Amino acid sequence: MLELKNISKQYGTRRALDNVSITLTNGIYGLLGPNGAGKSTLMNIITGNLRPSSGKVLWDGKCVQDMGAAYRSLLGYAPQQQGLYDTFTGIRFLSYMAALKGIPKKEQKQEIRRVLDYVNLTEKARQPIGSYSGGMKQRILVAQAILGNPRLIILDEPTAGLDPRERVRIRENIRNISGDKIILVSTHVVSDIESIASEIILLRNGQIINHDTVSALCRKYREAENLEQVYLQVFGEEDEHDSAYPI
Ligand SMILES: Nc1ncnc2c1ncn2[C@@H]1O[C@H](COP(=O)(O)OP(=O)(O)OP(=O)(O)O)[C@@H](O)[C@H]1O
Ligand SMILES: [Mg+2]
Repeated sequence: MLELKNISKQYGTRRALDNVSITLTNGIYGLLGPNGAGKSTLMNIITGNLRPSSGKVLWDGKCVQDMGAAYRSLLGYAPQQQGLYDTFTGIRFLSYMAALKGIPKKEQKQEIRRVLDYVNLTEKARQPIGSYSGGMKQRILVAQAILGNPRLIILDEPTAGLDPRERVRIRENIRNISGDKIILVSTHVVSDIESIASEIILLRNGQIINHDTVSALCRKYREAENLEQVYLQVFGEEDEHDSAYPI
């Protein structure tokens, strides 16, 4: 169980997250919100890459900052920004990430094979990442996030830039890995998560304005027949500008 307790994040005078509290249990969570809503900031705080200005992240009741390596070994994260090693081959990059995650050496080979197959990159595995297309780079980021079968998986816009076939493939794969895991996925493409999310979290101006199942949200927002219509009712007027506001 992952608990966020009163998380706020201030960048200078800009408040990117404002008192966010939510508890996630096993399932797939879709994180929706316009550019600048605070999705990546929230994910970076959950993964421990950023410290909140105030508030706490707890895993099964324990503060994740105190858990250190034990927390990192149960966490998989695919960041939005690609910071990949262009001269590494796919296999070398995944071996490096597997070592960082502390996956035992004798399990690494099989695990790398599994995740390459998962994102459909087996054929590219021996080529340098610099030669990959944008969508392939995106997919190898997803592959490293699921190395070692982590219990908490954070995917920041995993389908950005993917062609429709690979987008569907990633979506179905996410559906298939759920179960005894918490998976948090941000996206701007509502159809990526509408059919797979157990819950949708709507983030606006650094605040969670609602979180519920797709069908419950459709009931709450009158006349919404699907999640896209919920999104447009909630965010329709905001998408043309950065929603962040100075305090
Ligand atoms: N390192 C930083 N320094 C200053 N401000 C930042 C920094 N990172 C993010 N912000 C600001 O915090 C707010 C939230 O940004 P964040 O990247 O979390 O949004 P997002 O929901 O992930 O947006 P997108 O959909 O564009 O990825 C924005 O106003 C952004 O300008
Ligand atoms: Mg982002």
